[in-house]
Amino acid sequence: MSRKTAAITAVGGYVPEGILTNEDLAKMVDTSDEWITSRTGIKERHIIKEKGIAASDLGAEAVKELLHKKGLDPMEIDLLICATISPDMRVPDTANTILDKIGGKKAWGFDINAACSGFLFAMTTAAQFIESGMHKKVIVVGADVMSTVVDYTDRTTCILFGDGAGAILLEPSEEGLGLQDSVLKGDGSGRNLLNIKAGGSLIPYNRENYDSKDFFIYQDGKSVFKAAVTGMSGAITELMQRNHLTKDEISWIVPHQANKRIINSIGEFLDFPMERVMTNIYKYGNTTAATLPLCLWDYEKQLKKGDKLLFTAFGGGFTWGASYLKWAY
Ligand code: ACO
Repeated sequence: MSRKTAAITAVGGYVPEGILTNEDLAKMVDTSDEWITSRTGIKERHIIKEKGIAASDLGAEAVKELLHKKGLDPMEIDLLICATISPDMRVPDTANTILDKIGGKKAWGFDINAACSGFLFAMTTAAQFIESGMHKKVIVVGADVMSTVVDYTDRTTCILFGDGAGAILLEPSEEGLGLQDSVLKGDGSGRNLLNIKAGGSLIPYNRENYDSKDFFIYQDGKSVFKAAVTGMSGAITELMQRNHLTKDEISWIVPHQANKRIINSIGEFLDFPMERVMTNIYKYGNTTAATLPLCLWDYEKQLKKGDKLLFTAFGGGFTWGASYLKWAY
C-alpha cells in the first residue's frame, strides 16, 4: 500500500496596506535606495501603520482568503499551526486566536517559534498529522509583524524586514503528491548572532530596561549571511541526493526571502536558472515566517500539478532546512 502524503491544496496571503519605501527609510536613517537595493534587493515593504493590529489579524486574513478560494467551511478545519516570532501576546498562542477570528471552532492549534525557518518546520510538523491519518484538514500559517521588533534607528536591520502572513491547507493525497521529504537542522550555538535578547525569561521587562535596544532584533549580518548560504545550499544538496533528484527535474526553488544576494548565491551554488527561483523580496522585504507561503501566493498561477518544488529557509536559532514537495493542483 502506498504511503499517504500531505498535499498543499490551497494558498492564501495577506500584507497590510501601508508601504515603507527605501526613500522613506532614507529620511529616517543614514541610508539610500541605491545601498538597500544593491545590498539586499529590497525596494519596499508592507508595514502595519494602525495601532491594535497584530499577527493574528494578518494570519486570519490569509486564512479567510484561503477558505474563500477553496469554498471551505472553517468548521471543517482539524488543526491550525502558526509559525511566528511576533505573537499577539506571550500567552496565549496566536494559532488559537486566529481560529477564534475565523470561526474554526472544532479545531485545535499551537504556535511554532523557529524564526525564518518557522514555516518550513510548521509545514513538516503539520504533514505528520495528515500522514498518520489523525487529521484530514490542517492549516499552516506563517505570520509576522516584524515592524514591532525592529529598531527604526538601526540602519543595519530596519531596512530588511516587513509585515505579512501566508497560509496553506494540507490534505491527504492518494496520488502521492505533496510533501515528500525534509532535511531540518538546528544549531543553538548561533543564538548570539541573531536574536531578540530581552522580553523572555533571561532578560524580563522591568523598570530599568523598558527602553533597551535588547527588545529589538539584532543580527551579525555578515556571519548570518555566510551561515545562511552554507546552510540552505547544504540542506538542498542533501535533500536532492537522498531523493535522487537532478536539478533539471526541479520546477521551482522556493527560498526564504532574507536577501536577494543570498538567493542568488544559492542559485549559483546549485547552478540553477534564476527564472525558476521564486523571488518577491523586492516588494515585501523579509517577512520572517511568512516568506515561503507568500512566494506560493504570488506564484500560484504559474504552478502545475506534479511540479517538483524545493523549499529552503534559514533563521534565528540557528534553524534551517529544505523540503521537497510535489504540487497537487
Ligand atoms: N545603508 C547604508 N550603509 C549601511 C547600511 C544601510 N542600511 N547598513 C549597513 N551599512 C554599512 C555598514 O555600516 C558598513 O559600513 P562600514 O564598512 O563603514 O563599517 C557597510 O555598510 C557594510 O556593512 P555590512 O554589514 O558588511 O553589509 P553587508 O553587505 O553584509 O549587508 C546585510 C548587510 C544586508 C544585513 C547582510 O549582511 C545580510 O543580509 N545578512 C543576512 C540576513 C539574514 O539572512 N538573516 C536571516 C534571517 S532573519 C531571521 O531569522 C529573523
